[in-house]
Amino acid sequence: MIKIVHVVGARPNFMKAAPVYFALRGLPQVRQLLVHTGQHYDRRMSDVFFEELGMPEPDFNLAVGSGSHAAQTAEIMMRFEKVLLAEKPNTVVVYGDVNSTIAAALVAAKLGIKVAHVEAGLRSRDLTMPEEINRILTDRISNFLFTPSADGDDNLRAEGVPGDRIFMVGNCMIDTLVRLLAKARRPDTPQLAERYALVTLHRPANVDEPEMLEHILATLSDISRDLQVLFPIHPRTRARLQGTHWETELAGRDGSAMLFTEPLGYLEFLWLQQHAAVVLTDSGGIQEETTYLRTPCITLRENTERPITYEIGTNVLCGRDMDSVRREVARIVRGEKRQSFIPPLWDGRAGERVAKILVEQLS
Ligand code: UD1
Repeated sequence: MIKIVHVVGARPNFMKAAPVYFALRGLPQVRQLLVHTGQHYDRRMSDVFFEELGMPEPDFNLAVGSGSHAAQTAEIMMRFEKVLLAEKPNTVVVYGDVNSTIAAALVAAKLGIKVAHVEAGLRSRDLTMPEEINRILTDRISNFLFTPSADGDDNLRAEGVPGDRIFMVGNCMIDTLVRLLAKARRPDTPQLAERYALVTLHRPANVDEPEMLEHILATLSDISRDLQVLFPIHPRTRARLQGTHWETELAGRDGSAMLFTEPLGYLEFLWLQQHAAVVLTDSGGIQEETTYLRTPCITLRENTERPITYEIGTNVLCGRDMDSVRREVARIVRGEKRQSFIPPLWDGRAGERVAKILVEQLS
């Protein structure tokens, strides 16, 4: 019997874990448990995704909630250690690059339990991003490194990871997109125009500095003269806008040029990405999803750990240069489209590959 514990905690983990979980389900030699750390706990940041993705209730919810990085990571570690001591799995599977990922990997590695990392090898080379620290450390202590693209393999080899630990399987997040695209649905937002720009922002570098946030929102406000702007707001960003002059608009008293909403569920957000004229974001996963959907994407970051999305996909990195953001949007409004391709193995079957390799390696 192979006992596998999956650990998820924050919104972008859920769509990566679902395909691996489903691919392992029903295999007679596998028993799996799902642990939710509770890093994200709002209904709109967590429960909605479990429901829409068809994921079962977690077997354990560690309910750690928010806190400083140290407090959150430490709390997850202390609570997760108890689960591992009681359950004694063969392997812990961790996803992506959030605090739950490194916390769980560290606990497992110290208990001598094998760690599998889904979405290994991505590097922004920007150590001011908490996620980059999480990626490097998680990969360093993982036994099975599942990469979404060849750059991940190159990065790991350059860091000295033995080749027999690295498995290029493709993109698990895209598996979920492929599975659910037919169920994507228009949100119930009557003012939504036919052509709109979809915006998401939550990175500390963009939202924690009031001047930068103001600069970005002023740019979005300019853009909204040509193209409606729809902005579902992450709780972190909402907290930063409280008490500023944007609060009036948040309350929905503005016209329809700038629409602010609560965070949306997976199926509605997927529909919006598919139909948007352009997506402006600082998220990692959205750079990948827009590449798959061939929707133009403008990334408000200086770097990305997902270079394939601009090398062959639809992504353009504009950093903090708002003039270049305006220029890119204008280009898209004029109808100019870049040629783009879907990366190899982003085909809806990455989770099956992970499952097959895990079973082979652990048998
Ligand atoms: C986390 C991840 C980030 C990921 C993002 C997706 C880390 C270091 N960061 O960032 O990589 O892209 O999730 O959303 O793990 N909050 C709520 N309700 C919630 C969750 C958070 O109100 O359900 C608020 C709290 O005020 C909290 C803040 O959002 O302090 C930040 O949450 P946290 O999980 O620390 O980081 P994210 O910014 O969500």
